[in-house]
Amino acid sequence: MVPLSPIRSFLHKGLYLLVFFFFTLYSLLPHQSLPSSLSPSMAPPTQFFLFMCCLLRSVFVFGESDNYIVHMDLSLMPKIFTDHHSWYSAVVESALASSKAASMKSGGFLSNSKFIYSYLHAIQGFSAHLSPGEHEAIKNTPGYVSSVRDLPVKPDTTHSSQFLGLAADTGAWPASSYGEEVIIGIVDTGVWPESSSFKDSGMSQIPARWKGECQAGVQFNASMCNRKLIGARYFNKGITAKNPNMTLSMNSTRDTEGHGTHTSSTAAGNYVEDASFFGYAPGTARGMAPRARVAMYKALWQEGGFASDIIAAVDQAISDGVDVLSLSLGLDVMALYLDPVAIASYAANEKGIFVTTSAGNEGPFGASLHNGTPWSITVAAGDMDRDYVGVVTLGNGVRLEGTTLFPGNPHLPQTPTVFMGFCNNTVALSQVGRKIVVCEDKDDLLADQINYIQAGNISGGIFITDKIDIEQYIESQLPAVFVDQKVGEIIKNYVRNSSGKTEAGVEFGRTVIGGRRAAPRVASYSSRGPSPSCPFVLKPDVLAPGSLILAAWPEKTPTTLVGSDFVYSKYNLLSGTSMSTPHVAGVAALLKAARPEWSPAAIRSAIMTTSYSTDNTNRPIRDLGGNPVGSPANPLAMGAGHIDPNKALNPGLVYDTTTEDYNNLLCGLNYTAKEIQTITRSSSTTICSNPTLDLNYPSFIALLDFSKTPPPTAREFHRTVTNVGEESASYFATVTPVKGYKVTVEPKELIFKEKFEKLSYKLTIEGPIGGVQVEDVAWGHVSWIDRENKYEVKSPIVATTYRIE
Ligand SMILES: *[C@@H]1O[C@H](CO)[C@@H](O)[C@H](O)[C@H]1NC(C)=O
Ligand SMILES: *[C@@H]1O[C@H](CO)[C@@H](O)[C@H](O)[C@H]1NC(C)=O
Ligand SMILES: *[C@@H]1O[C@H](CO)[C@@H](O)[C@H](O)[C@H]1NC(C)=O
Ligand SMILES: *[C@@H]1O[C@H](CO)[C@@H](O)[C@H](O)[C@H]1NC(C)=O
Ligand SMILES: *[C@@H]1O[C@H](CO)[C@@H](O)[C@H](O)[C@H]1NC(C)=O
Ligand SMILES: *[C@@H]1O[C@H](CO)[C@@H](O)[C@H](O)[C@H]1NC(C)=O
Ligand SMILES: *[C@@H]1O[C@H](CO)[C@@H](O)[C@H](O)[C@H]1NC(C)=O
Repeated sequence: MVPLSPIRSFLHKGLYLLVFFFFTLYSLLPHQSLPSSLSPSMAPPTQFFLFMCCLLRSVFVFGESDNYIVHMDLSLMPKIFTDHHSWYSAVVESALASSKAASMKSGGFLSNSKFIYSYLHAIQGFSAHLSPGEHEAIKNTPGYVSSVRDLPVKPDTTHSSQFLGLAADTGAWPASSYGEEVIIGIVDTGVWPESSSFKDSGMSQIPARWKGECQAGVQFNASMCNRKLIGARYFNKGITAKNPNMTLSMNSTRDTEGHGTHTSSTAAGNYVEDASFFGYAPGTARGMAPRARVAMYKALWQEGGFASDIIAAVDQAISDGVDVLSLSLGLDVMALYLDPVAIASYAANEKGIFVTTSAGNEGPFGASLHNGTPWSITVAAGDMDRDYVGVVTLGNGVRLEGTTLFPGNPHLPQTPTVFMGFCNNTVALSQVGRKIVVCEDKDDLLADQINYIQAGNISGGIFITDKIDIEQYIESQLPAVFVDQKVGEIIKNYVRNSSGKTEAGVEFGRTVIGGRRAAPRVASYSSRGPSPSCPFVLKPDVLAPGSLILAAWPEKTPTTLVGSDFVYSKYNLLSGTSMSTPHVAGVAALLKAARPEWSPAAIRSAIMTTSYSTDNTNRPIRDLGGNPVGSPANPLAMGAGHIDPNKALNPGLVYDTTTEDYNNLLCGLNYTAKEIQTITRSSSTTICSNPTLDLNYPSFIALLDFSKTPPPTAREFHRTVTNVGEESASYFATVTPVKGYKVTVEPKELIFKEKFEKLSYKLTIEGPIGGVQVEDVAWGHVSWIDRENKYEVKSPIVATTYRIE
């Protein structure tokens, strides 16, 4: 087993539920070339397996059985079968028989093959537990396209609607009736149905077209769904086929981890007054689309998650009739045709379902994102203008503010206080006793100091740190407050210089909104582009609130620790691209309701081209993972910019992208016919008549390879925009400078005479221009602005020498 993406360990309790997975190399498709650096870790049985299959071409091969996802060409189903399921089971049966025969002859073991799922919509094919011999036999079946070993998957881990400008009287909420007719499907860890966020007060009848169900299971019965939570299903055949003797701790759609309850209530939770996390972030909790319906598809278990279950969940969601799919999970797979999330999303998109996915929490490193799939929207995470404050009162009466999310007793009374400098002396710390300790950070070792302090039996901590990105520390187990260097100096002077006893007290539990600092900012953990799976399409697409988001939580699942005790809350603050993704799902639901004629690509375009890239201080949005910290965020961190749902309602123009466009892109990627068919499920799409890497997309990225001589000097992009604004309108192009490059647009004016008219233009990036020091990432924007100045249709442009290894 080889971890392809090392998990970055965050401090607290799986708050960043990261996606990582272990990829068994010999699961790769035969045509996948293995990175040579990974080959040495191939297990001996693998080499044996490859040796056997290549040399003997026998149907019987030694080796371990495993679960496989098998792609089939349904158009080649023999007529004697009545449906896909009977064909797929017959394929498995006959593979089992032929393998058994071979095994008998050679005196080998008997296999115990098991059919897991047959899929209809998300992919054409099935999953099954197969011995290597059976797997080989299936490969020789007419209609076989490709197969891949089942992969483990894990999830990526109040005020946000106001921050996004959503209001009752104007904009996207009233225009969409708050998403009432829209069904959001969420594939996640399940749901806590008793949460107030899933009460159906104020909800109208369930849309008649809904075909889903409320599946009973452990501690979950069919009457737990209602007009808000309209569907609940669970998918465990993949994980149980992999671990036959395992018992699932909660064998039903009930959520015991909290992730799914949080994401689904973020997308479409009902109104809940007086929600808070131990007094922090108080107010009325509600989802982005507070009247939209939630259908939960549980495929991530406390015991793990597998691609076969994820595909089954998406398959069911498509057939149940969801309008939007929110996937806060992913796999770090390099090729689109190996990525089950990308493949299932293709089918959903083709059916008109808007798919929103998380970029991942592997930032701030370049090319760290997953789900960089051309037919989905990929969401980065940022913060909001909300701060959590602790007020420190010194013995001399001076009051100072710091940051904290300590969930315990909100009053730390006046207590003797000592200055310890860099708090790494565990012996000294253990002798301090019941005092407040002032620690000064250096070399970015905040986490270590917190651990040392926690080990001592002290009353509280005041940490002096200039670290901006401290959200994973502030929910501390002991009373602690984090102050900047300026405040720290005042505290230091007081504690070190006072002749008598020094003391301090802290009031926890305050929340301050707006005005204190620039917001939004890109979170440092948010994964960055370019997309390893398809670098020719700029990813991520947009930035949405993801840091310290308040949403519903299972009341029996602990949120955190105070001292050594678990503490519980019905609302929890979590951070991650898992949290930003359902914000976009909710916004897409509002747009679907208000603009039912728009395709998923048109909705994505509207969200992207109306997003903003300046913060509340009117400066470029900053990047907490930038170098240096707080430098302007580039489009590889935040895509087009931060979502603005009200503006997305009226984008003026949209970049629509058809299935044919996506197919041409797959051809441009030089995928084989089988690889393309694995994604598109259709053999007719694999005739590549018009291969191109230039997708009709609302953003531009030029990848420049300077190892080539002469270096490339110009890249041309062709785009077609559709008028969704007024009948007649004329738009002019303006381009912001891209340092070191010359960007031109032709024509510079687009004159529309009717609604839905399509017009095309060409954008050229030339450069690098003579002698200019070229940056790794140069960026700017092109905007189409109409004569009345009503619409600005803005797209990011990136020229980069960044190379994906
Ligand atoms: C479902 O569960 C609820 C709550 O535990 C219970 O009140 C109700 O009677 C159950 N309904 C059925 C049909 O079992
Ligand atoms: C499952 O349990 C049975 C009976 O206890 C045992 O024989 C078998 O080896 C176990 N299988 C696995 C995969 O652990
Ligand atoms: C889960 O529950 C289903 C029925 O609801 C049952 O068939 C299955 O065996 C259970 N699986 C596990 C692993 O507990
Ligand atoms: C504490 O930090 C100082 C300065 O970096 C270092 O010299 C010392 O070895 C550290 N002590 C421990 C116990 O880590
Ligand atoms: C911590 O200090 C308090 C007060 O002095 C004392 O009662 C308690 O036993 C101490 N706990 C430990 C683990 O030393
Ligand atoms: C003590 O206070 C004086 C004046 O307020 C200041 O200049 C000095 O730096 C302080 N000493 C320490 C150790 O902080
Ligand atoms: C696809 O193949 C063509 C012809 O060999 C080559 O020019 C092009 O760079 C390849 N494209 C990609 C994305 O590898």
